[in-house]
Amino acid sequence: MVDAKEFINKAIIEIKEDVGENKVISACSGGVDSMTATYLVHKAVGDKLIAVFINDGLRREGEPEFVVRTLKSLGINTRSIDAKEEFFKTLKGKTDAEEKRKAFRDKFYKTFGQVAKEENVKFIVQGTIKADVIETVEGIKSQHNVLEQIGINPQTYGYLILEPLRELFKPGVRTVARELGLPKEISERMPFPGPALSLRVLGEVTPRKVAIVRKATQIVEEETLNLGTFQNFAVLHNDKATGIKNGKRVYGNIITIRVVVSEDAVTATAKEIDYKTLFKIANRITKELSTVVRCLYDVTDKPPATIEFE
Ligand code: XMP
Repeated sequence: MVDAKEFINKAIIEIKEDVGENKVISACSGGVDSMTATYLVHKAVGDKLIAVFINDGLRREGEPEFVVRTLKSLGINTRSIDAKEEFFKTLKGKTDAEEKRKAFRDKFYKTFGQVAKEENVKFIVQGTIKADVIETVEGIKSQHNVLEQIGINPQTYGYLILEPLRELFKPGVRTVARELGLPKEISERMPFPGPALSLRVLGEVTPRKVAIVRKATQIVEEETLNLGTFQNFAVLHNDKATGIKNGKRVYGNIITIRVVVSEDAVTATAKEIDYKTLFKIANRITKELSTVVRCLYDVTDKPPATIEFE
């Protein structure tokens, strides 16, 4: 168990030493990790920090507005950058999961390189946690926010990286977030991958496909809100299947619903959901999304599966 008070006091001293009189920016997606890292640095250096939210067009419904509103309500200098077109351009034509992750990571760091230059800062704060580093180093996947540990010097992008949470796992981050007094919507926030909905559109990522999976995700989240599970989401398949819409045979989209129980994302169990709830989700998805003809439920644990499909 992490002693949150001790962790916070030590982290604040270290951050102050690292940052000195410099200005810093933080990469803030709105998840518990990046919000906690940002708030910790804000506590240490106050107005010398600018939190940067990049709208990459891959976030959940209402998420960009929520993140910016929350950061501002915490008294943190905040900048929001619209990079939707650029991210879609980068992902265009890419179908392989790791290729998509790497393209996302490169665009992510380049965008921050640009902001760092504009703001004239040397440091970027990231909410990297221990599991990100372990999974990347072990080759399970290349986490978008891990650079140095795999031998990429962040200075090639023009800055240094501060990772105040790198020694913590997810439960430790939540304990620190609670101790810092962050709102519940943040400290208890469901994990969401950095490359966001791009990992939940199998195959090539397009704005149209992201819009489908975004709506399906919203439905899954709404209908499973009270389950207290670790991650609840929808995945849009690359394949199509035959179905019937408005009395006509169509070749439509397939959505998989995934709801898992986990402590730290290292292992996970597929949640045993009652049929009524599953049926309601499938019914809503196929009714509210005109192209979807089929919904499946994933009953595979991690391992042998992973939580995400990509
Ligand atoms: P997997 O799919 O490997 O996911 O079982 C474990 C946890 O990590 C999240 N995840 C990611 N987070 N960048 C991230 O920041 C990524 O590339 C990435 N891939 C997976 C996933 O949502 C789960 O919480």
